[in-house]
Amino acid sequence: METLDQEARAIVVTDERPSATTQPSLREGIAFGCDYNPEQWDRAVWREDVALMREAGVDLVALNIFGWSHIEPRPGEYDFDGLDEIIGLLHEAGIRINLGTGTSSAPPWLTHRHPEILPEAADGTTRFPGGRQAWCPSSAVFRRYALALVEKVAERYGQHPAVALWHVSNELGCHNALCYDDESAEAFRGWLRARYGTIERLNSAWGTSFWSQTYSAFEEILPPRLTLSSRNPGQVLDFHRFSSDALLDHYRAETAVLRRHSDVPVTTNFMVTAHIRNLDYWTWAPEMDVVANDHYLDHRLAEPAAELSFASDLTRGLAGGEPWLLMEQSTGSVNWQPHNLAKAPGQLTRNSLSHVARGADAICFFQWRASLQGSEKFHSALVPHAGTDSDLWREVVDLSRTLDRLDELAGTRVQADVALLFSWENWWAADGESRPTHAVDYLSQVHAMHASLTRSGHTVDVVRPGASLEGYGLVVVPSLYLVRDEEARVLSDFAEAGGHVVVTFFSGIVDEEDRVRPGGYPGAFRDLLGVSVEEFAPVLPGQVLTLASGRSASLWSERTRARGAEVLDSFADGPSAGRPAITRRALPGGGAAWYIATHLDAADLDGVLREAAAGAGVVPIGDPREPGLEVVRRANEERSYLFLINHTDHAIDHPATGIDIVSGDPVEGAAHVPAGFVSVIREESAA
Ligand code: GLA
Repeated sequence: METLDQEARAIVVTDERPSATTQPSLREGIAFGCDYNPEQWDRAVWREDVALMREAGVDLVALNIFGWSHIEPRPGEYDFDGLDEIIGLLHEAGIRINLGTGTSSAPPWLTHRHPEILPEAADGTTRFPGGRQAWCPSSAVFRRYALALVEKVAERYGQHPAVALWHVSNELGCHNALCYDDESAEAFRGWLRARYGTIERLNSAWGTSFWSQTYSAFEEILPPRLTLSSRNPGQVLDFHRFSSDALLDHYRAETAVLRRHSDVPVTTNFMVTAHIRNLDYWTWAPEMDVVANDHYLDHRLAEPAAELSFASDLTRGLAGGEPWLLMEQSTGSVNWQPHNLAKAPGQLTRNSLSHVARGADAICFFQWRASLQGSEKFHSALVPHAGTDSDLWREVVDLSRTLDRLDELAGTRVQADVALLFSWENWWAADGESRPTHAVDYLSQVHAMHASLTRSGHTVDVVRPGASLEGYGLVVVPSLYLVRDEEARVLSDFAEAGGHVVVTFFSGIVDEEDRVRPGGYPGAFRDLLGVSVEEFAPVLPGQVLTLASGRSASLWSERTRARGAEVLDSFADGPSAGRPAITRRALPGGGAAWYIATHLDAADLDGVLREAAAGAGVVPIGDPREPGLEVVRRANEERSYLFLINHTDHAIDHPATGIDIVSGDPVEGAAHVPAGFVSVIREESAA
């Protein structure tokens, strides 16, 4: 066993929780890194791997993510030989470590000894080991074993000079977020007691007077297990809130152990993606020393690259505008979608620089070397099965060199001109089992608005309802069905103070207890918007709705009346023919409140949002005539950097003056960006 290097670390710690900006190890530049699962390989391969990592310029490696069965092969018996050795090798090579606590997947001895930790689905069936993450978030037994492991890992490596970041578990809640077993039921009841105090309050919040659901005591409450009919929506919503909190509690428990042994920043990898929605990251983010996200292009969506931009903007929102870390992405295909597409030449670089443009200060990958066995053997990696004599490896090395040239912009902040409100609670509530139409889902509405703004050249900050809107000219609110009074008030105050807002259909409908705000939709925003909706009238998928102006729409119409707003367009056909479809209320302070009562076709939505932005005096940074050129600016007080990412198959010129730090070439008046290329211009004067 190698001796660990315990020499003191030169860290400037200014408060109890070190932040990314006080950590020299995390702000030296744009980090380039990967997950490394050396447990899969013979030790001879480790040395080759470390040499190759140096060749590729890897400087941050995530280790021990799935290490539990290796470092604790039998209960209470620890073997750190392998981990010591690989940490030593990486340290000698000057590579920093993002050290996993190793608790993400329980070893077989644990589930064999304690099958009660296994999660249970809504239908009461057990989820067995043999995959990963087979543990119930509320299991006290699992927690005890996990924290014992964290204690050992933190004790051993807490002062190691190579450890730059702690990585708690892995993608908490990826598979096991919702557990319905008896132990979770007990924990859920405890959570409800703390939230409501009395059973009467709970009955009122859940509307249990309907369908004979009134509880006489907390003991009667179960998680929302499978039922014959639709389940109580309040119960389902609170179970989501509880489940998110239960895993956050697990994160806190591991973090508390780490802090007793180490000053190194702590994080976990979020999953801000289109298909995972079980954690309310607005409540999680403040507890991270630095926000980290995993992102994979999702080819089940119509516009995977547009979703990447949204996820990046949302991750930056979670980081409060500070730089964040892309903890995982893929070099090529994944293995878990129905059709796993390879990346086109150059796409890896464009995707990576989109993340950097939108605030990432680290670009990391799953995983270093492609597995030969196991579930992910057909998942791409930095070292593919084909080896290093491959185009993929060459692009990886090239990307790493490009990121080195961008080191100087680490720590700068993204400049955005529009804010978009997004809420996980709303996602849970709006996409409930019983809703006006299953053809409309919340995230698609959010994506549609974000993509439209992006196409028009805007950079969008994604913020939580209730967040300060100061500094924005325009705020967009897609389908915010659930909204608290105080959150609605922030929006009204913003508009009354001269701000411009665009609210879309199915917003403002219920309060935080999922209780309809009576008197006409969109309840919480009715006065602000100057409209009142009497009835929803969605249409079947495929039906085209035409507006009086000739605009096209689909999926949704409603019977709206203008009460103070100007009608800009109305339904020409369909179930709401003659009723307003787009309205605008001018506010005395110079602001405006727009309402869109249907799902507009993309081009028509672009037109409406451009008009709203122009009215707000918000000028896009990108060129709306070249929607395939992604234009984003990062800046600090001294300098600004303009990202020009050409996603098209033709060269594009864009106004800029300075130095292209990717190519090293001077730029005078206009940058010429060839098809598929990226320029990052250090601009001559600060923005
Ligand atoms: C997630 C996990 C990784 C790996 C990748 C594959 O991000 O954290 O362990 O499974 O997905 O895409």
